[in-house]
Amino acid sequence: MFNNVVWQDTEISKEERAFQKNQKPCILWFTGLSGSGKTTLANALDLKLFELNCHTCVLDGDNLRYGLNSDLGFDDASRTENIRRVGELSKILVDSGIIVLTAFISPFITDREQVRKLVDDDEFIEVFMDTPLSICEKRDNKGLYKKARNGEIKNFTGISSPYEKPMNSEIHINNSFNLNENVKLILNFLKMNGNIPLKS
Ligand SMILES: Nc1ncnc2c1ncn2[C@@H]1O[C@H](COP(=O)(O)OP(=O)(O)O)[C@@H](O)[C@H]1O
Ligand SMILES: [Mg+2]
Repeated sequence: MFNNVVWQDTEISKEERAFQKNQKPCILWFTGLSGSGKTTLANALDLKLFELNCHTCVLDGDNLRYGLNSDLGFDDASRTENIRRVGELSKILVDSGIIVLTAFISPFITDREQVRKLVDDDEFIEVFMDTPLSICEKRDNKGLYKKARNGEIKNFTGISSPYEKPMNSEIHINNSFNLNENVKLILNFLKMNGNIPLKS
């Protein structure tokens, strides 16, 4: 099949698209347990970046499972395929000049590293939401931990399915910081990494 598929170049380069948007595109890959704060922090940061006239897109695990990934379950193979598709989509958005914020548990190191390999070296920024299981479970903002403990949900990360912590994440979010401090921390990283103007 692939013999008859030919890559089609586009007229406008990735660099031209990024220049037009006055930013260097990247993937901010939020990873962590359910309830660790991925969605909350990704959205708070997205709001701030929007106010700074940056061009962003949030891809959220829960939302993508309503559409693009609605055919996938939570067994290991489905989780891998879930992340593979999100990685490919993120790459398309990066090529369009967008700063992509993804919020997926993405429990497996190999899956996250596969996404890292899809883009240039400094374009994949892993953000580890290092909130302990005990705190996530106490928050239980969706009531899922209770269900998992009662055996109502199979393959629940942290309870009946593993979470492989990142070893070398670019950004480590320690639970003791508050939301605004975390937004500032990531904004500073983006400035230093050249993704957004230093003066923003
Ligand atoms: N510092 C913090 N950062 C992010 N979320 C926090 C923080 N402190 C408390 N929370 C709360 O924790 C919960 C995190 O939920 P959510 O963002 O949906 O997590 P996830 O997307 O990782 O499942 C929210 O109810 C949020 O208000
Ligand atoms: Mg979430």
